Amino acid sequence: MVRKIQPEPFRIKMVEPVTVPDQAQREDALRKGHFNMFGLTSRDIYIDLLTDSGTGAMSKQQWAALMRGDEAYAGADSFFALKDSVREVLGFEYVIPTHQGRAAENIVFGTLLKKGDIVPFNMPFDTTRAHIFNMGADPVDCVVDDAFDPSSDHPFKGDVDIGKLEDTIRNYGKDRIPLIMVTVTNNSGGGQPVSLGNLRSVSAVAKREGIPFFLDAARMAENAYFIKAREKECAGMSVAQILRAMMDCVDAITVSCKKDPLVNIGGMICCRTEDMYQKLLPRVILYEGFVTYGGLAGRDLEALALGLREMTDEQYLAHRVAQVAYLGDILEEGGVPYVKPAGGHAIFIDAAAFLPHIPQKHYPADVLGIEIYREAAIRGIGLGALAFATEDEKSGEMMLPRLELFRLAINRRTYTNSHIEYVGESVVNVFKRKDSIRYGLKVTYAPPVKGLHHFLAHLEPFDLK
Ligand code: F0G
Repeated sequence: MVRKIQPEPFRIKMVEPVTVPDQAQREDALRKGHFNMFGLTSRDIYIDLLTDSGTGAMSKQQWAALMRGDEAYAGADSFFALKDSVREVLGFEYVIPTHQGRAAENIVFGTLLKKGDIVPFNMPFDTTRAHIFNMGADPVDCVVDDAFDPSSDHPFKGDVDIGKLEDTIRNYGKDRIPLIMVTVTNNSGGGQPVSLGNLRSVSAVAKREGIPFFLDAARMAENAYFIKAREKECAGMSVAQILRAMMDCVDAITVSCKKDPLVNIGGMICCRTEDMYQKLLPRVILYEGFVTYGGLAGRDLEALALGLREMTDEQYLAHRVAQVAYLGDILEEGGVPYVKPAGGHAIFIDAAAFLPHIPQKHYPADVLGIEIYREAAIRGIGLGALAFATEDEKSGEMMLPRLELFRLAINRRTYTNSHIEYVGESVVNVFKRKDSIRYGLKVTYAPPVKGLHHFLAHLEPFDLK
């Protein structure tokens, strides 16, 4: 296979030193962190691929814009800079800043959901799922079946299966469905995109049924880039035009701006009508702050206003997507199973296929995390049974998720292709010794809140027979 390297479309102005901890330090860190990747500290890590959230590098324009931050409590200039960007880039009239994406979810779900409600999704991410549970409601996954087959190279594995969506509406009744939500890209299913055609079909169903349609738009620019590359009808459009066309399908969006919008902290809700805007505002004041800053400093709003414009830069996106695919190519050469095609923000290793001798209930994705860390001081995150298993309410039995993945999330504009080679080669080294990895994990502590186990769990390895 020929590896395709796309050179970085930036040069490095400020250096952030990192060190490589030695083997003894790594073992100590694992023990102190209860074998949970969230328990490791920055000092323990050489390359940190835990998440692509808030970990990217800002541009020199964004750093310069921080100085323009207007810190007025209400009606700051910086809020209007954000409002202008949102109107021009995304086409929404109303914006509510929040401190990050889950805060936007708290406002939307806390305002619109009640106990017993249902939210049809393609597939929600962990915190989104937890927020819906927290309201006494339930998400229903309506993603296409291909999403569950890591080897299928379906170009839009984030798509909603329209038949499943219609069945869900019919089975539960639209009175129990205050909104439909689609995540772009589908993070839990491997960073896979949703096609424009599919968004238009969901929109048609939502309009017909009179149900508001929301996007969880954390990775909307990567999604638009994939549409340009893979959806024939859109090949002649710019990424910016495609993004607008995606937004035209929906009534509102929640956004973790720590992803595609290129800031280290921030979130927002954007909507079209005064009615929806007014409905959401009281909860903003309760949980975030006044409605023109929503938990952010004025300078954060300035950086975000620019990040929203920078995220559609096609040279940047081409490099980003190619860099993730490059990691995929190195793994492919080494025979490592991962979710195909490569995602927009991450490679998701198929931990069930990597460590087939470890039963899913003993958390193979998290065992893989420990071994990759041991090998190379690289941190990723397990997205399998530890994150997504639920308990059957009647029998108390553990219900396992269909996918057992381990994610290596690529930070935006942060690591070079040479870092990526080191990561790929290290994972291949672990793959070569996979048969000697013969232990599982047990949970010795878990928080008593549904959906949050993996963040706070204490784990302990035990030998498998
Ligand atoms: N929606 C999606 C699709 C996400 O991936 C995340 C966060 C959120 C919402 C919540 O946003 O973190 O700003 O509160 N995902 C991170 C991750 C944390 O690692 O994938 P947040």
